[in-house]
Amino acid sequence: MKTIRFDIISIFPGMFDSPFRESLLKRAQENGLLEIRTHDLRDYTLDKHGRVDDTPFGGGVGMVMNIEPIDRALEAVQKDRPGAHKVLLSPGGYPFDQKKAWELSRRENIILVCGRYEGVDERVTELVDEELSIGDYVLNGGEVAAMVVVEAVARLVPGVVGDEQSLHEESFASELLEYPQYTRPRDYKGYTVPEVLVSGDHKKIEEWKRQAALRKTAKYRPDLIKKLNPAVPNSSGEHGTD
Ligand code: 6GU
Repeated sequence: MKTIRFDIISIFPGMFDSPFRESLLKRAQENGLLEIRTHDLRDYTLDKHGRVDDTPFGGGVGMVMNIEPIDRALEAVQKDRPGAHKVLLSPGGYPFDQKKAWELSRRENIILVCGRYEGVDERVTELVDEELSIGDYVLNGGEVAAMVVVEAVARLVPGVVGDEQSLHEESFASELLEYPQYTRPRDYKGYTVPEVLVSGDHKKIEEWKRQAALRKTAKYRPDLIKKLNPAVPNSSGEHGTD
């Protein structure tokens, strides 16, 4: 049985208490498919006031997280988990996407280091294997990002989600957004279900789903269509790979 273990290093370990105690991730932990441990970064500082950050060299606003507590926390966790894959979560990282989630899901031990938004001493990047960001917006810290990574990765571990086949058919695995779905009632206050879906014509339904997925993707994620077919010129008439 494939299992995956996450060790999360954070100054707010309490933030992880409830999100992992619900639903699929709860069951995965009960079934021994998934293990999640949190570690309080402050336990690893040598500073007598428990500080884990300091002012930046060269000046500038905000504080920068020190390398020493992070290094000491990583050393302690790794003693328990030799060979673990180490990830720093920060807005300056490589974009976390479904492909990266699949890649991480094949590992057995992952250590997630949560940075605070104002910054982490750049030398911490030398202590980890990679730096990941979950998107182009700013969070107060890497904690919520770590939850996103744990959920996206853990559900790809065989047995965590009931129907494994469905994982491969989902959005981004197929490189398009999902086609719209409907269930009863067929008419809700005049909001109706596309006729074709109740026609019983399976060939027509499949074609409708493909077209609907393309329409939705073109509307909300033109960048994905461009990725599928990079030879199609963009609206300015140039061949874009931007
Ligand atoms: Cl990993 N951390 C922070 N602070 N902000 C983010 C992020 C991570 N990913 C996107 N925004």
